[in-house]
Amino acid sequence: FTVDIDASASEKGAYEHYMLKEIDEQPAVMRALQQVYLNADGTVEIDDEMLTAIKNSERIYVVAAGTSYHAGLVGRELFEKIAQVPTEVHVASEFAYNPPLLAEKPFFIFLSQSGETADSREVLKRVNEWNYPSLTITNVPNSTLSREASYTMLLHAGPEIAVASTKAYTAQVAVEAILAKAIGQMKGLQKAIEFDLKKELTLVANAMQIMVDEKYNMEMLADEYLKTTRNAFYIGRGIDYDVAIEAALKLKEISYIQTEGFASGELKHGTIALIEEGTPVIAIITNELTAAHTRSNVQEVIARGANVIRIVMDSLSQDQDQIVIPEVHPLLTPLVSIIPAQLLAYYASKNRGYDVDKPRNLAKSVTVE
Ligand code: G6P
Repeated sequence: FTVDIDASASEKGAYEHYMLKEIDEQPAVMRALQQVYLNADGTVEIDDEMLTAIKNSERIYVVAAGTSYHAGLVGRELFEKIAQVPTEVHVASEFAYNPPLLAEKPFFIFLSQSGETADSREVLKRVNEWNYPSLTITNVPNSTLSREASYTMLLHAGPEIAVASTKAYTAQVAVEAILAKAIGQMKGLQKAIEFDLKKELTLVANAMQIMVDEKYNMEMLADEYLKTTRNAFYIGRGIDYDVAIEAALKLKEISYIQTEGFASGELKHGTIALIEEGTPVIAIITNELTAAHTRSNVQEVIARGANVIRIVMDSLSQDQDQIVIPEVHPLLTPLVSIIPAQLLAYYASKNRGYDVDKPRNLAKSVTVE
């Protein structure tokens, strides 16, 4: 199965910016991935030889940069919780010259939209010298990282032109979910067999669609909360913290607002000192177990003058929450909760009159270390 990318895939059409077009394409990418990787009976179709190599390894090392690194953080949750494989996630530029003590049988996963990032290539070079098996998950067939790794899985997201990565992030998370299911399925794990990705990714695609259709809400919120501020914070716990870091990168890279993603419980150990009258704090709340704790952290920053936006999963939502995301599988919430954050970043950048698709100082693909 191949997903046809017609000539119009790399044109903006009616869109003012590629970034908005690419945000809008995310539900379709989820459907494409279902078609590529899932069988009619819901089982996963992936190279058995690669799955066996992962099954025989003791630990997965995910290596990536930028947004792809953030997709790796979510991947760790999936590989550990669905496939029961201990997983570490590393920034490529750090790993290359300061590698951790490796497990005896490691398996490497390189996440890269472009497949060309020099920091990741440097690590793969070493991994090949050490003769360890590897998989590259990339959007670009025949890219360097794809050619040099033992195996490749493609993102099927179509060309991503805007420097700020959106659909490649969600495609990476979805492919990791598919891979986690396949590994767990091969190991005969009940949790993996019951992880019904045909159903869950359909729910995700529908939830994404509802979020992208709510653009006006995010545009209004960006106007109200992010128009003049110099700094901002995203907070969350667990998988919501993983998303908070990516959400912060999105906002800072295109709006130039100094933004950090924080573990909400860690704020009180220092960073809360930065909260002033009017500082925007955006809280992501999708986990039942920690929702009350994050809400109490929200109260702490409100007491210090913060202007809070809450992105909350439906079943946990309360009256004053501004962004409510439809219910999806607890391990797949990043696929949906990131969308309002992408849109807030988009409108914050646009409002300030910046070049949304080509932010200053940044390149789409960085081929130097
Ligand atoms: C650059 C881009 C980022 C991207 C990172 C990793 O810094 O500006 O958007 O996340 O490279 O790129 P990759 O192609 O390896 O995912």
